[in-house]
Amino acid sequence: LARGVPEPDLAGRHVVVSAGGTREPLDPVRFLGNRSSGKQGYALARTAAARGARVTLLAANTGLPDPAGVDVVPVGTAVQLREAVLKAAADADAVVMAAAVADFRPRDYATGKIKKKDGQDPEPVVLVRNPDILAEISAERARPGQVVVGFAAETDDVLANGRAKLERKGCDLLVVNEVGERKTFGSEENEAVVLGADGSETPVPYGPKEFLAETVWDLVAARLS
Ligand code: CTP
Ligand code: CA
Repeated sequence: LARGVPEPDLAGRHVVVSAGGTREPLDPVRFLGNRSSGKQGYALARTAAARGARVTLLAANTGLPDPAGVDVVPVGTAVQLREAVLKAAADADAVVMAAAVADFRPRDYATGKIKKKDGQDPEPVVLVRNPDILAEISAERARPGQVVVGFAAETDDVLANGRAKLERKGCDLLVVNEVGERKTFGSEENEAVVLGADGSETPVPYGPKEFLAETVWDLVAARLS
Protein backbone atom coordinates (compact mmCIF):
# COMPACT_ATOMS: atom_id res chain seq x y z
CA LEU A 1 0.00 0.00 0.00
CA ALA A 2 3.01 2.29 0.30
CA ARG A 3 3.35 4.96 -2.32
CA GLY A 4 6.56 6.25 -3.84
CA VAL A 5 7.20 9.78 -5.09
CA PRO A 6 3.74 11.33 -5.58
CA GLU A 7 2.46 12.37 -9.00
CA PRO A 8 2.05 16.16 -9.11
CA ASP A 9 -1.59 15.66 -10.13
CA LEU A 10 -2.72 18.67 -8.08
CA ALA A 11 -0.18 21.09 -9.59
CA GLY A 12 -1.77 24.44 -10.45
CA ARG A 13 -4.68 23.72 -8.10
CA HIS A 14 -5.60 25.62 -4.96
CA VAL A 15 -7.09 23.46 -2.23
CA VAL A 16 -8.49 24.54 1.12
CA VAL A 17 -8.49 22.24 4.13
CA SER A 18 -10.00 22.96 7.53
CA ALA A 19 -8.58 21.08 10.52
CA GLY A 20 -8.98 20.80 14.27
CA GLY A 21 -11.99 21.81 16.28
CA THR A 22 -13.65 25.15 16.91
CA ARG A 23 -13.83 26.62 20.41
CA GLU A 24 -16.77 28.72 21.43
CA PRO A 25 -15.94 31.10 24.28
CA LEU A 26 -18.06 31.62 27.39
CA ASP A 27 -15.74 34.18 28.96
CA PRO A 28 -12.06 35.13 28.51
CA VAL A 29 -10.83 31.86 30.06
CA ARG A 30 -13.49 29.24 29.17
CA PHE A 31 -14.88 27.68 26.01
CA LEU A 32 -17.04 24.87 24.65
CA GLY A 33 -14.93 22.66 22.43
CA ASN A 34 -14.37 19.15 21.13
CA ARG A 35 -11.63 16.55 21.01
CA SER A 36 -10.63 16.84 17.37
CA SER A 37 -6.82 16.67 17.14
CA GLY A 38 -6.45 18.13 13.66
CA LYS A 39 -4.19 15.27 12.53
CA GLN A 40 -6.42 14.15 9.65
CA GLY A 41 -6.65 17.71 8.33
CA TYR A 42 -2.87 18.15 8.57
CA ALA A 43 -2.34 14.86 6.74
CA LEU A 44 -4.65 16.15 3.99
CA ALA A 45 -2.69 19.42 3.79
CA ARG A 46 0.71 17.67 3.67
CA THR A 47 -0.32 15.16 1.02
CA ALA A 48 -1.96 17.82 -1.18
CA ALA A 49 1.21 19.94 -1.03
CA ALA A 50 3.28 16.86 -1.94
CA ARG A 51 1.01 16.37 -4.97
CA GLY A 52 1.74 19.91 -6.14
CA ALA A 53 -1.25 21.88 -4.85
CA ARG A 54 -1.19 25.33 -3.33
CA VAL A 55 -2.71 24.58 0.08
CA THR A 56 -4.53 26.85 2.51
CA LEU A 57 -4.91 25.16 5.90
CA LEU A 58 -7.49 26.69 8.21
CA ALA A 59 -6.30 25.50 11.59
CA ALA A 60 -8.76 25.57 14.48
CA ASN A 61 -6.98 25.17 17.81
CA THR A 62 -4.71 22.30 16.80
CA GLY A 63 -1.42 23.23 18.44
CA LEU A 64 0.32 21.28 15.66
CA PRO A 65 3.43 22.58 13.86
CA ASP A 66 2.73 24.27 10.50
CA PRO A 67 3.35 21.82 7.62
CA ALA A 68 6.08 22.97 5.23
CA GLY A 69 4.93 24.73 2.09
CA VAL A 70 1.37 25.27 3.31
CA ASP A 71 -0.38 28.60 4.05
CA VAL A 72 -1.73 28.22 7.59
CA VAL A 73 -4.55 30.48 8.79
CA PRO A 74 -5.35 30.09 12.49
CA VAL A 75 -9.01 30.38 13.51
CA GLY A 76 -10.85 30.03 16.81
CA THR A 77 -14.63 29.87 16.56
CA ALA A 78 -17.07 28.47 14.00
CA VAL A 79 -18.00 32.00 12.94
CA GLN A 80 -14.31 32.82 12.35
CA LEU A 81 -13.83 29.55 10.48
CA ARG A 82 -16.81 30.37 8.24
CA GLU A 83 -15.29 33.75 7.35
CA ALA A 84 -11.91 32.14 6.61
CA VAL A 85 -13.46 29.35 4.51
CA LEU A 86 -15.54 31.77 2.43
CA LYS A 87 -12.45 33.93 1.81
CA ALA A 88 -10.09 31.07 0.93
CA ALA A 89 -12.71 29.18 -1.12
CA ALA A 90 -13.22 32.11 -3.51
CA ASP A 91 -10.50 30.83 -5.89
CA ALA A 92 -10.25 27.23 -4.67
CA ASP A 93 -10.56 24.13 -6.81
CA ALA A 94 -11.47 22.02 -3.78
CA VAL A 95 -12.53 22.57 -0.18
CA VAL A 96 -12.19 19.79 2.40
CA MET A 97 -13.96 20.35 5.70
CA ALA A 98 -12.04 18.07 8.06
CA ALA A 99 -12.55 20.39 11.05
CA ALA A 100 -15.00 19.51 13.79
CA VAL A 101 -17.26 22.53 13.87
CA ALA A 102 -19.16 23.14 17.12
CA ASP A 103 -22.87 22.86 16.34
CA PHE A 104 -23.74 25.40 19.04
CA ARG A 105 -22.13 28.37 20.74
CA PRO A 106 -23.00 30.16 23.96
CA ARG A 107 -25.52 32.90 23.15
CA ASP A 108 -23.74 35.33 25.48
CA TYR A 109 -20.08 36.11 25.98
CA ALA A 110 -19.03 37.47 29.38
CA THR A 111 -16.25 40.01 28.87
CA GLY A 112 -15.12 39.41 32.45
CA LYS A 113 -14.43 36.02 34.02
CA ILE A 114 -17.63 34.39 35.33
CA LYS A 115 -17.33 34.18 39.15
CA LYS A 116 -19.01 31.88 41.67
CA LYS A 117 -21.63 33.40 43.91
CA ASP A 118 -21.82 32.14 47.52
CA GLY A 119 -24.19 29.19 47.89
CA GLN A 120 -25.73 29.74 44.46
CA ASP A 121 -25.97 27.48 41.43
CA PRO A 122 -24.74 29.10 38.20
CA GLU A 123 -26.95 30.64 35.55
CA PRO A 124 -27.72 28.09 32.82
CA VAL A 125 -25.67 28.43 29.64
CA VAL A 126 -27.94 29.28 26.71
CA LEU A 127 -26.74 27.91 23.38
CA VAL A 128 -27.54 29.00 19.83
CA ARG A 129 -26.86 27.27 16.50
CA ASN A 130 -23.67 27.92 14.58
CA PRO A 131 -23.73 28.39 10.80
CA ASP A 132 -23.40 25.18 8.75
CA ILE A 133 -20.32 26.01 6.70
CA LEU A 134 -20.27 22.81 4.63
CA ALA A 135 -23.93 23.15 3.62
CA GLU A 136 -23.40 26.79 2.73
CA ILE A 137 -20.34 26.33 0.51
CA SER A 138 -21.92 23.27 -1.12
CA ALA A 139 -25.11 25.19 -1.98
CA GLU A 140 -23.28 28.26 -3.27
CA ARG A 141 -20.09 27.11 -5.01
CA ALA A 142 -17.55 29.91 -5.27
CA ARG A 143 -16.42 28.48 -8.64
CA PRO A 144 -18.14 26.15 -11.09
CA GLY A 145 -16.79 22.63 -10.71
CA GLN A 146 -15.35 23.29 -7.26
CA VAL A 147 -15.19 19.98 -5.37
CA VAL A 148 -16.50 20.07 -1.79
CA VAL A 149 -15.69 17.32 0.71
CA GLY A 150 -17.12 16.76 4.20
CA PHE A 151 -16.22 14.46 7.07
CA ALA A 152 -18.59 12.70 9.44
CA ALA A 153 -18.18 10.41 12.43
CA GLU A 154 -21.19 8.15 12.79
CA THR A 155 -22.44 5.28 14.95
CA ASP A 156 -25.22 2.69 14.39
CA ASP A 157 -26.17 2.47 10.70
CA VAL A 158 -23.02 4.28 9.59
CA LEU A 159 -23.57 4.08 5.82
CA ALA A 160 -27.25 5.06 5.91
CA ASN A 161 -26.46 7.96 8.23
CA GLY A 162 -23.58 8.99 5.96
CA ARG A 163 -25.67 8.82 2.80
CA ALA A 164 -28.41 10.95 4.43
CA LYS A 165 -25.82 13.47 5.62
CA LEU A 166 -24.19 13.68 2.17
CA GLU A 167 -27.57 14.56 0.67
CA ARG A 168 -28.41 17.04 3.43
CA LYS A 169 -25.11 18.85 3.05
CA GLY A 170 -25.03 18.80 -0.75
CA CYS A 171 -21.28 18.09 -0.92
CA ASP A 172 -19.58 15.92 -3.57
CA LEU A 173 -17.82 13.53 -1.21
CA LEU A 174 -18.37 12.60 2.43
CA VAL A 175 -15.71 10.71 4.38
CA VAL A 176 -17.57 8.61 6.94
CA ASN A 177 -15.76 7.26 9.99
CA GLU A 178 -17.28 4.72 12.28
CA VAL A 179 -16.81 5.85 15.85
CA GLY A 180 -15.68 2.95 17.97
CA GLU A 181 -13.01 1.14 19.93
CA ARG A 182 -9.70 1.75 18.17
CA LYS A 183 -11.05 4.60 16.08
CA THR A 184 -10.62 7.25 18.71
CA PHE A 185 -9.88 10.94 18.64
CA GLY A 186 -6.20 11.80 18.52
CA SER A 187 -5.13 8.46 17.11
CA GLU A 188 -2.64 8.19 14.26
CA GLU A 189 -4.79 5.87 12.22
CA ASN A 190 -8.19 5.88 10.62
CA GLU A 191 -10.65 3.66 8.77
CA ALA A 192 -13.40 5.09 6.64
CA VAL A 193 -15.74 4.89 3.67
CA VAL A 194 -15.83 7.75 1.20
CA LEU A 195 -19.32 8.26 -0.19
CA GLY A 196 -19.80 10.12 -3.47
CA ALA A 197 -22.81 12.18 -4.56
CA ASP A 198 -22.60 10.06 -7.74
CA GLY A 199 -23.46 6.99 -5.63
CA SER A 200 -19.88 5.73 -5.37
CA GLU A 201 -18.57 4.06 -2.22
CA THR A 202 -14.82 3.85 -1.62
CA PRO A 203 -13.77 1.84 1.44
CA VAL A 204 -10.46 2.86 3.00
CA PRO A 205 -8.89 0.17 5.20
CA TYR A 206 -7.66 0.88 8.71
CA GLY A 207 -4.31 2.60 8.38
CA PRO A 208 -2.37 5.86 8.64
CA LYS A 209 -4.25 9.13 8.20
CA GLU A 210 -1.98 9.83 5.20
CA PHE A 211 -3.49 6.87 3.40
CA LEU A 212 -7.04 8.15 3.85
CA ALA A 213 -5.79 11.59 2.77
CA GLU A 214 -4.28 10.19 -0.46
CA THR A 215 -7.56 8.43 -1.24
CA VAL A 216 -9.50 11.67 -0.73
CA TRP A 217 -7.15 13.50 -3.15
CA ASP A 218 -7.44 10.64 -5.67
CA LEU A 219 -11.22 11.08 -5.64
CA VAL A 220 -10.96 14.88 -5.77
CA ALA A 221 -8.43 14.79 -8.63
CA ALA A 222 -10.72 12.48 -10.62
CA ARG A 223 -13.55 14.99 -10.23
CA LEU A 224 -11.37 17.96 -11.20
CA SER A 225 -10.08 16.57 -14.47
N1 CTP B 1 -19.80 21.16 9.47
C1 CTP B 1 -19.80 22.50 9.12
N2 CTP B 1 -20.47 23.41 9.89
C2 CTP B 1 -21.15 23.02 10.98
C3 CTP B 1 -21.17 21.65 11.36
C4 CTP B 1 -20.46 20.75 10.57
O1 CTP B 1 -19.19 22.85 8.11
N3 CTP B 1 -21.80 23.91 11.71
C5 CTP B 1 -19.09 20.20 8.62
C6 CTP B 1 -17.95 19.47 9.30
O2 CTP B 1 -16.73 20.14 9.08
C7 CTP B 1 -17.97 18.12 8.59
C8 CTP B 1 -19.42 17.93 8.19
O3 CTP B 1 -20.02 19.22 8.25
O4 CTP B 1 -17.22 18.14 7.40
C9 CTP B 1 -20.20 16.97 9.00
O5 CTP B 1 -20.16 17.35 10.36
P1 CTP B 1 -21.20 16.69 11.36
O6 CTP B 1 -20.98 17.24 12.73
O7 CTP B 1 -21.14 15.22 11.17
O8 CTP B 1 -22.58 17.21 10.73
P2 CTP B 1 -23.85 17.81 11.42
O9 CTP B 1 -24.73 18.32 10.32
O10 CTP B 1 -23.48 18.79 12.48
O11 CTP B 1 -24.56 16.54 12.02
P3 CTP B 1 -24.69 15.99 13.54
O12 CTP B 1 -26.01 16.51 14.02
O13 CTP B 1 -24.64 14.49 13.34
O14 CTP B 1 -23.53 16.52 14.34
CA1 CA C 1 -22.10 18.31 14.29
